Amino acid sequence: LKLVVLISGGGSNLRSLLEAAHDAEYPARVVAVGADRDADGFEHADAFGIPTFSVPFSSFADREAWGDELLAQVQQWQPDLVVLSGFMRLVPPRVVEALAPNLINTHPAYLPEFPGAHGVRDALAAGVDRTGASVIVVDNGVDSGPVLAQRRIPVLPGDDESSLHDRIKIVERELLVQTVLDIANGTIDLEQEPTA
Ligand code: GRF
Repeated sequence: LKLVVLISGGGSNLRSLLEAAHDAEYPARVVAVGADRDADGFEHADAFGIPTFSVPFSSFADREAWGDELLAQVQQWQPDLVVLSGFMRLVPPRVVEALAPNLINTHPAYLPEFPGAHGVRDALAAGVDRTGASVIVVDNGVDSGPVLAQRRIPVLPGDDESSLHDRIKIVERELLVQTVLDIANGTIDLEQEPTA
């Protein structure tokens, strides 16, 4: 299974996917890593000799033009699956339409709880004693697509956003590596997922 992974930040989840895919037994390969900026996480792709591309959001007149360029760059690699992993932009509808259902995202909360860009902060603010991590199919909503995998994670006394997010990321990586494996070996059939 050929993957293109899109990031915005440090790419710790990307790194886990790269490490898993480095094993010849793992039936998926990351063929390129893209970002909406010159992302720090590119260092992980570089370490594995994997090409990177950036489509800077600020270089485009509007979201649609940016999305069209992002789509063109992604499709150049002819991926079987596109993975959003810490990608901090909403994917424009034309891009979702072109890639769906082979477009998944990882989110640091137990969706549909706490969608959006601040899922960890929102869980803390809500004072809940547990949150989670989720892998979903991307649709045109905000973290609203069908859930492929998710797991509960405790919020501990004294947690701040950073300590909680670190605990969540550990689980996110496991879920992401497992979900990509399930898609690659047919355990999950994205064509069968209910479109929202
Ligand atoms: C991850 O928790 C992701 O779900 C969220 O931002 C974080 C990105 O972390 N959107 P990293 O870039 O993979 O380290």
